Amino acid sequence: MSHAFPHRHLLGIEGLSSHDIRFLLDEAEQWIAFNRGVRKQDHRLDGLTQINAFFENSTRTLFSFEIAGKRLGAQVANFHAATSSVKKGESLIDTALTLNAMRPDVLVIRHEANGAAADVATVMECPVINAGDGRGEHPTQALLDALTIRRRKGRVEGLKVAICGDIRHSRVAGSNMRSLPALGAEVRVVGPEALLPASLPEHIRAFTDLDEGIAGVDVVMMLRIQRERMDAALSEGLGDYHGRYGLTRARLALAAPDAIVMHPGPMNRGVEIDSNVADDPERSTIREQVELGVAVRMACLDVLTRNRRGG
Ligand code: NCD
Repeated sequence: MSHAFPHRHLLGIEGLSSHDIRFLLDEAEQWIAFNRGVRKQDHRLDGLTQINAFFENSTRTLFSFEIAGKRLGAQVANFHAATSSVKKGESLIDTALTLNAMRPDVLVIRHEANGAAADVATVMECPVINAGDGRGEHPTQALLDALTIRRRKGRVEGLKVAICGDIRHSRVAGSNMRSLPALGAEVRVVGPEALLPASLPEHIRAFTDLDEGIAGVDVVMMLRIQRERMDAALSEGLGDYHGRYGLTRARLALAAPDAIVMHPGPMNRGVEIDSNVADDPERSTIREQVELGVAVRMACLDVLTRNRRGG
């Protein structure tokens, strides 16, 4: 553990200080320009083994961690749960012990159970990065979101951010509700009653009306409805979701004139967001979020493996 970042793992935003969060964002900055170059090969993770163990579907997060590790020189091995012995009934901890025996230097894990990354970290001898645990946390997503806001707006502090949609089932919301207030933003959540969490931190206001919730905000963060985490009755009871909660151009006009629109992906066009908003380069940061995600993951891989590298 280094003094600069006194944590062995990155399991969530919870437990990080605002200094820790800023440190990771500052570390990520150097990789943005690097990633825009033609040759993108650094060597600080040369000879290190990175395992990406994904027990849930992923497009951008898995690929982003793979590219990040390779650009730093690591040997990256992807463990796909769909074709593994998990299907034969092996427990998560037994799977973790198996992976640990292969002596990885960093493990990136995504799993459908809340707390899975923390459980696995108890038996791993290397740093563990949580790439999403159930409805818990998704810390690298929150970091890349904060970096995107900081670069587009010049700061996070003092901004009004509305996180809209399926808050209850979203680990992206879970992590952003921790990181953004820690960086000084005023966060509110907006969604149908059934998709709001049972309890919220005192400083976060909840709105069930989208127009009211986004009035005057600087950042509108849209989330997908996570039907895979709902029972059928809840999913069917959502009614005309686009009519009530879809972000249209007309609705976006209620936010601050220069408000940005974010979405972690995967997005459902015509459900929570209209194409003419999602594809507007002046307002939408969706592509930039993906781009900065690689830089953030490079920073996390670099910082967490510094001890092992003796640096
Ligand atoms: C999110 C996730 O998996 O938590 N996607 C992502 O990582 N960018 C959000 C989602 O699945 O809706």
